[in-house]
Amino acid sequence: MEKFYVLCLLVFFSFSLFHGGTARAVKSRGGSEEWGYVEVRPKAHMFWWLYKSPYRVEQPSKPWPIILWLQGGPGASGVGIGNFEEIGPLDTNLKPRNSTWLKKADLLFVDNPVGTGYSFVEDTKLFVKTDDDAATDLTTLLIELFNRNESLQKSPLYIVAESYGGKFAVTAGLSILKAIEAGKLKLKLGGVALGNSWISPEDFVFSWGPLLKDVSRLDNNGLEKSNSLAEEIRQQLKDGQYEEATNTWSQLESVISKNSNSVDFYNFLLDSGTGPLALSTSAVSNGIFALKRYSRYLKKYSRYLSSLRVSPGNDGGDLDSLMNGVIKKKLKIIPANVSWGGQSDYVFSRMAGDFMKPRIAEVDELLAKGVNVTVYNGQLDVICATKGTEAWVDKLKWEGLQDFLSKERTPLYCKGDQGTKGFLKSYKNLQFYWILGAGHFVPVEQPCVSLNMAGAITQSPAAEAS
Ligand SMILES: *[C@@H]1O[C@H](CO)[C@@H](O)[C@H](O)[C@H]1NC(C)=O
Ligand SMILES: *[C@@H]1O[C@H](CO)[C@@H](O)[C@H](O)[C@H]1NC(C)=O
Ligand SMILES: *[C@@H]1O[C@H](CO)[C@@H](O)[C@H](O)[C@H]1NC(C)=O
Ligand SMILES: *[C@@H]1O[C@H](CO)[C@@H](O)[C@H](O)[C@H]1NC(C)=O
Repeated sequence: MEKFYVLCLLVFFSFSLFHGGTARAVKSRGGSEEWGYVEVRPKAHMFWWLYKSPYRVEQPSKPWPIILWLQGGPGASGVGIGNFEEIGPLDTNLKPRNSTWLKKADLLFVDNPVGTGYSFVEDTKLFVKTDDDAATDLTTLLIELFNRNESLQKSPLYIVAESYGGKFAVTAGLSILKAIEAGKLKLKLGGVALGNSWISPEDFVFSWGPLLKDVSRLDNNGLEKSNSLAEEIRQQLKDGQYEEATNTWSQLESVISKNSNSVDFYNFLLDSGTGPLALSTSAVSNGIFALKRYSRYLKKYSRYLSSLRVSPGNDGGDLDSLMNGVIKKKLKIIPANVSWGGQSDYVFSRMAGDFMKPRIAEVDELLAKGVNVTVYNGQLDVICATKGTEAWVDKLKWEGLQDFLSKERTPLYCKGDQGTKGFLKSYKNLQFYWILGAGHFVPVEQPCVSLNMAGAITQSPAAEAS
């Protein structure tokens, strides 16, 4: 890895944008890292950070891939969390990460949607309200990055998502294909991977009670309360009461916490707060706006913000001080009055009306268009439990579904490591990985098998190397 404190060669460039704005980018000395802002709409600025892999292998038949990592939330920072706590080249102590996915691909982190992490808006009206709005902004960003860059265009782009990021990934995947077909975007979409993804909120809330009952974390009383709130959510979704469904969801989380003595929603073997979660509470604040206006929302979702901290790392480094300290200094272009937050409450609250909407139909559309779709799920997760994921996969209308379901699974192992690490089921363009011994944050809890999976998903020329 290049030394961290290299003096950056500043390359500022301006060119006309889709919407008439400007973009600004910086390249590190040696060119292994680039980052910048794209003004995806006037006064809405999206931050991206691209790492070029030092492990790149040239193979004419297998192009070197790029992974676009999409964090969850909505409002969680991929540039901070996915990068420094999960798959990037350095951990939160700025030590090299042995299991970095750079070993298989170039990595593109984006603080998506605007208002997340280093991304910011100059007017609070510019936050997105829906997954579709977010997909449009993300597509605009990709147009800016890829259309004038033939070297980037040679690499297929694989979208890999975690948690709520899965909803962004499928809507963005469709928006990207549309832009490609219309001749507006020069890019090869390699595939979409949905890691513990919030694709069908209804299926997940119905999975919680039975799962936690089966592993002794709830008794029948707790199960009954849980299922009754899940029924309420089902009715609200049926009636199109999406914000109300978000409220009931939050209530259901409280009921489960109470009845399970605070199970960790990201790993049912643990108690909440004892898991590998490490975002300080100040990390939830973000942006450059007055807090007052949102106090109603803050109150409403305070439970969400305290329980659904989206950070997996527990390696001693404080991500909040890192991102607002040395990293901000290194990047040079983050406005002084934009402070990085791990989870933006503004972004979440603005999306409260879309949060509970399913995206199963979008997965179907991707499958029908022949896009490679990978689903992977950590065995110990609660919030996006494998049981719920299997339930929404069963609802796919994709013509290959029955053949897929009847296929046998292949066990997965890792070199030098005893025991079964997972299973893979694969048919045509659908792949499903069951990852054992991991909760919500699969690359953190099972780095070895995850890295191999990243290589397989992206058809990386480096896939067979490790
Ligand atoms: C790093 O990964 C390699 C395999 O890629 C493994 O052999 C080695 O033990 C790992 N080192 C550490 C410190 O985990
Ligand atoms: C675009 O491609 C050139 C190589 O032709 C490269 O040096 C440059 O950094 C690329 N820009 C981006 C944003 O990746
Ligand atoms: C899609 O998946 C199939 C089966 O795993 C694979 O052979 C093919 O190369 C993949 N295509 C891309 C673009 O990754
Ligand atoms: C943040 O700084 C920019 C200049 O860099 C300024 O235009 C803007 O008004 C500032 N915003 C706030 C809320 O202070």
